[in-house]
Amino acid sequence: MYEVLTKDLLLWIRDVKNSAQDIEDLYLLLDLIGGISKSDLLLLKINSKVKVCLDTDFYSLKKKWTEHTQVSKPIQYICKSSYWRNYKFELTSDVLIPRVETEQIVEIANDLIDQREKKIIFADLGTGSGAIAISLLAENRNWKGLATDIDINALNIAKKNHKNISLDSNLSFYCGNWWEPLINYSGIINLAISNPPYIPKDDYERLHSSVIDFEPKKALYGGENGLFHIKQIISDAPKFLAEGGWLILENHFDQSKEIKNLFKENGFNSIKTINDTFGIGRFTIGRYKYINSNVHCL
Ligand SMILES: C[S@@+](CC[C@H](N)C(=O)[O-])C[C@H]1O[C@@H](n2cnc3c(N)ncnc32)[C@H](O)[C@@H]1O
Repeated sequence: MYEVLTKDLLLWIRDVKNSAQDIEDLYLLLDLIGGISKSDLLLLKINSKVKVCLDTDFYSLKKKWTEHTQVSKPIQYICKSSYWRNYKFELTSDVLIPRVETEQIVEIANDLIDQREKKIIFADLGTGSGAIAISLLAENRNWKGLATDIDINALNIAKKNHKNISLDSNLSFYCGNWWEPLINYSGIINLAISNPPYIPKDDYERLHSSVIDFEPKKALYGGENGLFHIKQIISDAPKFLAEGGWLILENHFDQSKEIKNLFKENGFNSIKTINDTFGIGRFTIGRYKYINSNVHCL
């Protein structure tokens, strides 16, 4: 524990913040490595003689802030961790920082599956930090999860996060191209989720340096029109999904029409675009070869 005068900490925050974004980043830094939450910080009084206890010394904190501002390195990579839904995930430069809009995928999945169905097998394709699979299983402990990624280093981070967050052994990890490593589960997967790389070439080249310089290209870049990976995932889905199995995809803001067509061409029905909280058609869902339309519960 390192003690800092409240006044010194608050004056430093006042001096270094230049924008509303800065203040949010400072709160995140102080939380992730200082161990002091935003709500606790807001209660501090500048004229108080009280000292604040931090998990790191003030000098290191300042150094990390400088690293962030000088090269636009995201706080989450500097602190090697990030919050997502209810958990703190460990991160390295091998994995994408899990985004707030992706959190909705867990709710979508929970709404789609009839909770009376006991033996759900689901796949998280391109698991990265493992955020989706781990969170979903924490809420559905009787489900069985299969997490895949092309990058063994990303998969190792996901494994570590699973070990840190959960005592359950209901999640298995596979390295390989999308569905390929799941050959033993052909035709029996009830739910597949993927937040694949979907950013088109032109948009990728215009991304902010905090993204393009630090986040893995293989986690973001989706080829010329952004649909390279999405096409593969949808066209191989029929080999792996059980009849009536759901596929949930996250996509770029302007891809839902094309994705809905791809779903249709590959034997899906109950196809739908779901808006994120900003009103953007961020998710596309479809159900493979679903015949009985009375039972579905979305
Ligand atoms: C957008 S990130 C999503 C990470 C995580 N699921 C999330 O939502 O935060 C895409 C992930 O797909 C993985 N990936 C890229 N190409 C892949 C492929 N051909 N097969 C399997 N995974 C792939 C990347 O390594 C990355 O972890």
